[in-house]
Amino acid sequence: MVQRTLSIIKPDAVQKNAVGAILKYFEDAGLKIRALKMMKLSTEEAKAFYIVHRERPFYNELATFMSEGPIVPLVLEGEDAIKRVRDIMGATNPKDAAPGTIRATFATNIERNAVHGSDSEKSAAYEIPFFFSALEMPEI
Ligand code: CDP
Ligand code: MG
Repeated sequence: MVQRTLSIIKPDAVQKNAVGAILKYFEDAGLKIRALKMMKLSTEEAKAFYIVHRERPFYNELATFMSEGPIVPLVLEGEDAIKRVRDIMGATNPKDAAPGTIRATFATNIERNAVHGSDSEKSAAYEIPFFFSALEMPEI
């Protein structure tokens, strides 16, 4: 099934000059970039994005990290895009991420792990319109 998924190049990866390298992983896998921008979240906006994690011990620190500098949110489209993006990203903890994945290559630790990817269709349905209006994601 053709799906859309929300990815974010996180502040650590933007800081490392890895935006182009990370986009290349997705494009080389045949995924289509359907929307893309650079922006900076407030801590409150980062908390709203990660609202599902509000009870987790890392929630406040995560929101601080995600608002420390510019991020690059993007929408990717393709067959099984949600799972494929997760596979290309690698495990949350870079210590567990398979060699050749984005996180194995660019993550610093379990928090500063370079990229986000929606984990389900339900998450994608919340996360895509969180960042992109219809005008910012034109139908091709
Ligand atoms: O991003 P992913 O779906 O792989 O992991 P998550 O469990 O949904 O957690 C969201 C984000 O919270 C992670 O990508 C990390 O940046 C951060 N995190 C953390 O700081 N400490 C943890 N123990 C787990 C996650
Ligand atoms: Mg997640």
